[in-house]
Amino acid sequence: GKVALLMGGQAAERAISLKSGHAVLAALTRLGIDVHPIDPGADLLEVLHREGFQRAFIILHGRGGEDGQVQGALETIGLPYTGSGVLGSAIGMDKYRSKLIWHGAGLSTPEFALLYGSADLPRAQALGFPLMIKPANEGSSIGMARADDADSLASAWAEAARYDEAVLAERWVQGPEYTCAILQGEALPLIRLETPHAFYDFDAKYQADSTRYLCPCGLEPAHERALQALCLRAFDLVGGSGWGRVDLMLDADGTAQLLEVNTVPGMTDHSLVPMAAKAAGIDFDTLCGRILQTSLR
Ligand code: DAL
Ligand code: MG
Repeated sequence: GKVALLMGGQAAERAISLKSGHAVLAALTRLGIDVHPIDPGADLLEVLHREGFQRAFIILHGRGGEDGQVQGALETIGLPYTGSGVLGSAIGMDKYRSKLIWHGAGLSTPEFALLYGSADLPRAQALGFPLMIKPANEGSSIGMARADDADSLASAWAEAARYDEAVLAERWVQGPEYTCAILQGEALPLIRLETPHAFYDFDAKYQADSTRYLCPCGLEPAHERALQALCLRAFDLVGGSGWGRVDLMLDADGTAQLLEVNTVPGMTDHSLVPMAAKAAGIDFDTLCGRILQTSLR
């Protein structure tokens, strides 16, 4: 049947979504699928109905597209779509509530405080420096900064608050950072991320040549399997389904600290899910075909 590829959108991650979308569009076309790119606007449901689409492949990143809003709209017209449902999408976009759920289930996540205004900065400071400051609902490291003292905390908060009224402060974890791609209920090989930047920021993610991606990740196989199982559980706890990616860091004492879930991870040529899939013997086109299958629930 006819597939609507939802890409673009109005979120801060629009440019990344367009990159992911063009890559997915080319792959699905090569697979012989009747796929049409749609940049969702106010008339989205009308367009989907009028054009007689039978399924939607969602490659929108960030608020409005990855957070359950579009998923809910598609539910109301009964159009099957890829990836997580309304609940998992909404919780996955909200780093604070993801962390509350993991914490409540006994899984480790860096200590945190939610800041609604500059009056809340002392609660961040009470966690101890250094801190990682980020918008609670954002992606691609947009609006993130490290804070080492009260002054840099104030400026990091102001920057993050440009993107979201809710700002998350987390105790700094030195890393290394790992990511675990999830496809149809299975964890793909872990990737270890190494960057000379202070953290894996927007430039390190999409532009810098200095970022190193290690896959195989270098951990003992049993350790890697344990982390994969942890990530599957973390994904399941927030209500994720179909496909996604869980990011974590190993603390100085080796504890796995869960950072966040991405329910519509990037699919650009710098992105991690395609890299992990390739290591598992799944080429990009096959990966896109399998993600499309997640709409058949
Ligand atoms: N939020 C970006 C697209 C990612 O997680 O890959
Ligand atoms: Mg993210």
